[in-house]
Amino acid sequence: MADPTPAPTPPEGTPPEGTPPDPPIAVPHTARPPGEVLLEVDGLQVEYPGEGDPIRAVRTFDLVIRERELVGLVGESGSGKSTAALALMGLVRPPGRVTAGHVRLRGQDLLGRSDAQLRGVRGREIGLITQDARAALNPLVRIGDQVANVVRAHARVDGTTARRRAVEALRAVGIPDPERRVRAYPHELSGGMAQRVLIAIATVHDPVLLIADEPTTGLDVTVQAQFLDTLQRRVQATDAAVLFVTHDLGIVAQYCDRVAVMLQGEIVEQADVRTIFSAPSHPYTRELVGLARDRDVPERRRRDRSMPSSQAEVAETPRSSAEAAEARSTRRAGGRLARTEP
Ligand SMILES: Nc1ncnc2c1ncn2[C@@H]1O[C@H](COP(=O)(O)OP(=O)(O)O)[C@@H](O)[C@H]1O
Ligand SMILES: [Mg+2]
Repeated sequence: MADPTPAPTPPEGTPPEGTPPDPPIAVPHTARPPGEVLLEVDGLQVEYPGEGDPIRAVRTFDLVIRERELVGLVGESGSGKSTAALALMGLVRPPGRVTAGHVRLRGQDLLGRSDAQLRGVRGREIGLITQDARAALNPLVRIGDQVANVVRAHARVDGTTARRRAVEALRAVGIPDPERRVRAYPHELSGGMAQRVLIAIATVHDPVLLIADEPTTGLDVTVQAQFLDTLQRRVQATDAAVLFVTHDLGIVAQYCDRVAVMLQGEIVEQADVRTIFSAPSHPYTRELVGLARDRDVPERRRRDRSMPSSQAEVAETPRSSAEAAEARSTRRAGGRLARTEP
């Protein structure tokens, strides 16, 4: 006989052993058809007090991110990218303040929420990956415990279960021998491995949105490529949307569907990646596209050592953005991104 009150089927990936505590904001976390609006930002403005006039770090910022969409936010240092990214998560700290605008996650306003309510969203619905793992991780706590603490912050599970999930989370980001590595302290890890721990922490609850703020800064090119592949695998596995903050349009070409360009606190242009490369409209975007193309050539030549450099240049230069877009289509279709393994 049917149970009169059947438990709802948990979404894929939900651990059977734990149910999350009642969320302070009722954001449904169910599988949905692709393309629904996930995050809506309207008229966001953020200020910091200055010497005289306030610093208007974010002045014109309107952005929509759909489910599973990978959006790049690019712009030079000081253009307001990090401030905007923090504001999306309610993380602008006084004396900085949001002076205008709305941020909605699946229609639910975030900016009017209390810190406690926002903590329920961060780490569970929205995961954050910052650029400096060593600053983000607690130097005195073993990495396994740091992951397990995040598990327990949003799921009612016992310590053993949390530790087991921490091992799995570290395995999922390619940390070798995770059963042993859980006992490591952050300083015992390489920069690339520490950065992977941040991915593990940010994705352990299958967030709907990941915000990655310059996550590859400070990593060398090979480690950066490995990091981005790992991030991409976790994004696929969790079905998350991503806001990828970077000053490097080349990375955006490889990994994003759409891009918003920020200059002096304003989003001056946004478009799909192909359009940004083929028909950039703002002068600053054109400059960024030029820089990305210039850097792309030696980088690709280095990756494909089997090809003589003159041929590589001829073959690669004009196609780079189209190829990147193609690689993304392959990835979206569930295929692997073609990439020369180091
Ligand atoms: N905590 C802060 N206090 C005062 N000003 C800040 C603070 N954080 C950022 N700013 C200022 O806000 C502007 C945008 O900075 P930021 O968001 O860090 O830009 P980006 O991430 O694009 O480099 C800059 O002028 C910066 O000096
Ligand atoms: Mg920044």
